[in-house]
Amino acid sequence: MFTTYLPARAFRSIVLRMLVLAGPLVNSRCSPESSFPRRLRACPLAHQVLKMSSVKEQLIENLTEEDKVSQSKITIVGTGAVGMACAICILLKDLADELALVDVVTDKLKGETMDLQHGSLFFNTSKIVSGKDYSVSANSRLVIITAGARQQEGESRLNLVQRNVDIMKSIIPAIVQNSPDCKMLIVSNPVDILTYVVWKLSGLPATRVIGSGCNLDSARFRYLIGQKLGVHPSSCHGWIIGEHGDSSVPLWSGVNVAGVSLKSLDPNIGTDSDKDHWKNIHKEVVGSAYEIIKLKGYTSWGIGLSVTDLVKSILKNLRRVHPVSTMVKGSYGIKEEIFLSIPCVLGRNGVSDVVKVNLNSEEEALLKKSASTLWNVQKDLRF
Ligand SMILES: NC(=O)c1ccc[n+]([C@@H]2O[C@H](COP(=O)([O-])OP(=O)(O)OC[C@H]3O[C@@H](n4cnc5c(N)ncnc54)[C@H](O)[C@@H]3O)[C@@H](O)[C@H]2O)c1
Repeated sequence: MFTTYLPARAFRSIVLRMLVLAGPLVNSRCSPESSFPRRLRACPLAHQVLKMSSVKEQLIENLTEEDKVSQSKITIVGTGAVGMACAICILLKDLADELALVDVVTDKLKGETMDLQHGSLFFNTSKIVSGKDYSVSANSRLVIITAGARQQEGESRLNLVQRNVDIMKSIIPAIVQNSPDCKMLIVSNPVDILTYVVWKLSGLPATRVIGSGCNLDSARFRYLIGQKLGVHPSSCHGWIIGEHGDSSVPLWSGVNVAGVSLKSLDPNIGTDSDKDHWKNIHKEVVGSAYEIIKLKGYTSWGIGLSVTDLVKSILKNLRRVHPVSTMVKGSYGIKEEIFLSIPCVLGRNGVSDVVKVNLNSEEEALLKKSASTLWNVQKDLRF
């Protein structure tokens, strides 16, 4: 295309320049004082040549080359229910100047991309690209991994492990090759184990490989506490740490509204002897994904919104604290190299700090149990 287009364009340019120089000779209205385009338009011959130029060439004069490197590019790998929920939330929050989508199913990928591109009028991300090849992800600041098998009805997250480890092996080297300075946010399940696997496969510092972990579980926790109290979740503070999944640990000792600890009002809160049955809230959190999958086949909106909140902290360097999955060897008496959720400060370098939580003995025991649940699966993995 270039070889036929360029000579024609060059030819037009030469003719136009000759006409400009000869302007005063061919038409008295083409005085040297008049502006360049007006002078051309006034010349009948020039007008004919101009008609040969494209509308874009007549309308727009390029002054400088566009900077090819985006400042806040995000890539999402996996354009299933979760990946697309993340995509639309990120677009609507204006967090990226370029969004790249990667998937192995090319028709679906193209369809999803076109569908989003057609909404460009309504958001402020100027470039949406996609492809099977990881070159489309080049120079990403953040890569979100949502590719992989999802739970079927009644299936646990840990069941997915080997299938999704194999998928990570096919994804991670190409991502690092194209974006060696990126941070990675892992969402695919079992998220804590896969975050460890991605850390190993990528060779990146652990601080730059982050699992979405219990950010969603904590959002569900706060929503349900808010429902019980009639208060917006943003005013109900509470943390779930440990495994994103069945062995997650609710920190009842820290649950508070306006700094008033609920445990100070009822020391039994969250235990079996609590007459208000607050413990059921954590049971509901753990059962949420199973329930939603039973009802609609998959989960998407909650995780899309919670991932987007993490993206915001990282790309805007907010240094907010989130319960995300990070390497915890050496903390809370955990000796194994595993990832699980604890409160982490998130900013432009990924996890820059962790908050040292004062766990009571029961919470610490539950966290160790959660760690050993993960280790029992992780220790036999081969990749
Ligand atoms: N961490 C969380 O809180 C959380 C919440 C919900 C879902 N998830 C997990 O997210 C993952 C995705 O869930 P979903 O509902 O979107 O599943 P989905 O089946 O709708 O989408 C998965 C996508 O991954 C793509 N894919 C598969 N192999 C790939 C590869 N090698 N390279 C690129 N793309 C590939 C598929 O083509 C598909 O489009 C699952 O593992 C699920 O369990 C995690």
